[in-house]
Amino acid sequence: MGEMTLNKIFGAGLAVVLVILGLLQLPSLLFASGAEGHHDDHHGEHGEPLSLNEQIAATYAYYIPIADGGSAGPVEPEEVFDLGAALASADVSRGQSSFQQKCASCHSIEAGAGNGIGPNLYNVVGAEKHHLDDFRYSGAMMAAEGSWTYADLNDWLKSPSSYMSGTSMGFAGLNRDGERANVIAYLASKTEGAPAFPAPLPEVTEEEGELVPEVEDTSLLEEAGDTAETMIEDAGDSLEDVSETVEDTVDETVEEASELVDDHAETHEGDEH
Ligand code: HEC
Repeated sequence: MGEMTLNKIFGAGLAVVLVILGLLQLPSLLFASGAEGHHDDHHGEHGEPLSLNEQIAATYAYYIPIADGGSAGPVEPEEVFDLGAALASADVSRGQSSFQQKCASCHSIEAGAGNGIGPNLYNVVGAEKHHLDDFRYSGAMMAAEGSWTYADLNDWLKSPSSYMSGTSMGFAGLNRDGERANVIAYLASKTEGAPAFPAPLPEVTEEEGELVPEVEDTSLLEEAGDTAETMIEDAGDSLEDVSETVEDTVDETVEEASELVDDHAETHEGDEH
């Protein structure tokens, strides 16, 4: 083996090392592309370089379809007063005693008992508003249309003045749902052929109530999150693979090269001696 062969071996080794050095730069070129031009993209708030994961996340962030669902989280169902349920479980005798305490000063309720400060309330449920001809109602009540449905009575008795501004019924209202339902049930018991109570609202199970509004929003978010995680993991794995392969190749090549050099040296020595 002459000088030429030795040079060829060194040259080949050098070329391999150069290629390997180039390969080692590849990941950082791929994942930190534009680092020179866009310093801000790859540095944290305080200027420290971002970790590889953060860089990958920043790179892939452009491709992850983040659903803008506003503030994600369980949508609190609005508290709905279930009048049907309240009436179904109403206590008529409690309603009667509430009526005696809070309404009887102005209203009689037995048939033919006559009007007081307010009109007689016999047969009022389901009747037309301003249901008596012999009572002087306010202009507001006279202008009111429709009949006293359970829903209307509920709103009316909760707060007469907000239900009907200008009413002459000087009563603040029955604020407690249970008491209001009891009184309405009592009014119904004093109405011949009273309409049936409204049906209670369909029962909403815990699961339905909590899941239905949620699913649409979070499934998208979760999907996006999973995709991002997978992408980052994959990218990390490939990076590890690349660097492992490169390390292995470097090790092997260096070993081979030094073996070759050793061999050559030995041969050379042998030549000289
Ligand atoms: C301070 C007196 C007063 C009290 C207390 C009062 N009301 Fe009245 N109520 C009236 C007056 C006056 C009217 C007529 C209102 C109008 O014309 O605007 C009326 C009207 C009504 C009407 C409509 C009647 C119709 O013919 O359309 C109902 C129903 C009614 N009251 C129920 C009650 C109930 C139930 C209570 C007790 C929880 C009550 N009221 C307490 C004075 C009163």
